[in-house]
Amino acid sequence: MKDVIIACDFPGRTECLDFLDMFREEKPFVKIGMELFYSAGPDIVREIKGRGHRIFLDLKLHDIPNTVKRSMAVLSGLDVDMCNLHAAGTIPMMRAALEGLTRPDGTRPLLIAVTQLTSTSEEAMHGDLLIDRDMQSVVMHYAKNAAIAGLDGVVCSPLEAESVHSVCGSGFLTVTPGIRFADGEKGDQSRVTTPEKARELGSDYIVVGRPITAAADPVAAYRRCVREFVGTKEI
Ligand code: C5P
Repeated sequence: MKDVIIACDFPGRTECLDFLDMFREEKPFVKIGMELFYSAGPDIVREIKGRGHRIFLDLKLHDIPNTVKRSMAVLSGLDVDMCNLHAAGTIPMMRAALEGLTRPDGTRPLLIAVTQLTSTSEEAMHGDLLIDRDMQSVVMHYAKNAAIAGLDGVVCSPLEAESVHSVCGSGFLTVTPGIRFADGEKGDQSRVTTPEKARELGSDYIVVGRPITAAADPVAAYRRCVREFVGTKEI
């Protein structure tokens, strides 16, 4: 299922809820990141969930398997729909995360891996991390590790969605930020793709922040994103 996830990159509870109050007819899938979670705490997740939104909790866990497993159990208890971790934590860490996430009734949130952060250059990967391979090979290897561990997908660029699907299978989810409207500002994103292009490239979910949150009419911008990305879904 294709969907648009709004990155709610707000400094606190009030700003975020004021923003969501604008949506009266639809309940967008929202991404809560570290800034909002650390400022507003787990209650913000309960509150937004209580309003009927699906939630991608973007906390990018990376620690020893036991710690990640226990932390994921806590996140699962918050009833989020999607969460994530760093694939660099290794396959045992990813497997432990899945165990922690799985609720007694067998259900669990989707679990998505971050491969290499887009802020990490190939030069930094070689020089700082002492990883000798090229970026594309590392990203695909980490995606494959995530699939082997049983995860549901990866965060990647829409431009990588096709390769990820060919390496990990078409059912392996690609959750893709770096989205801009054709007539919009790029901001600090360098490689950007329109919602329509992301659909053509096979993205499963697009993560869209400022093109919606900073728009003069955020609801209209969200609807435009849905129209261009999901295509058939009319609101
Ligand atoms: O405002 P914008 O649409 O650029 O927001 C994109 C969102 O996706 C932000 O929350 C950003 O942190 C996140 N993200 C990203 N690139 C990645 C991973 C996450 O832009 N590689």
